[in-house]
Amino acid sequence: MALTVTIGCMAESEGSPESEDTNVAVWKSDLGVNFWRSTAADRERRRGAHRALMAELLPFGRDEEFTFVDLGAGTGAASRAVMDYFPKASAVLADFSPQMMEQGAADLAPYEGRYRYVEFDLAKSGRWPDGIPDPAQAVIASLAVHHLNDERKRRLFGEIFDRLAPGGWFLNYDPVKPPDPVTEEAWLRAGDRRDPDAAHKRAHRTAEEHLRYENHVRYMIPLEPQVGFLRAAGFEGVDVYWKELDYVIYGGRRPPVTRSM
Ligand SMILES: C[S@@+](CC[C@H](N)C(=O)[O-])C[C@H]1O[C@@H](n2cnc3c(N)ncnc32)[C@H](O)[C@@H]1O
Repeated sequence: MALTVTIGCMAESEGSPESEDTNVAVWKSDLGVNFWRSTAADRERRRGAHRALMAELLPFGRDEEFTFVDLGAGTGAASRAVMDYFPKASAVLADFSPQMMEQGAADLAPYEGRYRYVEFDLAKSGRWPDGIPDPAQAVIASLAVHHLNDERKRRLFGEIFDRLAPGGWFLNYDPVKPPDPVTEEAWLRAGDRRDPDAAHKRAHRTAEEHLRYENHVRYMIPLEPQVGFLRAAGFEGVDVYWKELDYVIYGGRRPPVTRSM
């Protein structure tokens, strides 16, 4: 079975917010994006069902027309899962990487007319781009929020809440950091049993693999504070809807407008 656990064996300086933020360098580079493309089939095999669950969690009828927003959409893997499940749904894919959007345009060719890209740097606070629907009927994110620092995660969840239509859902599929060493050990134990080469790979990363790994874990935090950010923003129905070791889907909805009697 393929490697699931991606955290672990962090040296003191690794993955800390103090280390240089390489997010832009990784995602706005041909090197980073070519690697992402080269591993897409394996990722789809391991992660396809999780993205399908995000679609199943959305409260729309199978034949309903609606538009959702995919934050940090990349080449559109999560958007495609939602559009496959809801054949009349349309996607607004927000990302800051021209390289990922260019590759996404190729991957999304079968969905022509049902999607558009909007350039959006999620790390920056402030006004959202006009191309993002206001209000948004639903917002999803897949493997992107962990690239933002804690304060930006917290603020972003508030901005998503404000942008959502009443009753609208936000779902986030992301890796999380273990909350303590005992949990980390258990996650690694299970991950290493699934992939007997995992421990060796962790200990023998090339410089390029090390850069990618550092970027992957730099702002990764445990699950609990993130669920807390959602609750603090005002979401209801906040839950961890799926979890396996270090990967989770959590979310909630903006309360519907209640009519006064
Ligand atoms: C690991 S990929 C995930 C892509 C896609 N959501 C998926 O599930 O396959 C992370 C994506 O987040 C995007 N990203 C990272 N930091 C970002 C930022 N500050 N603003 C917007 N997009 C960002 C990257 O360009 C990349 O497309």
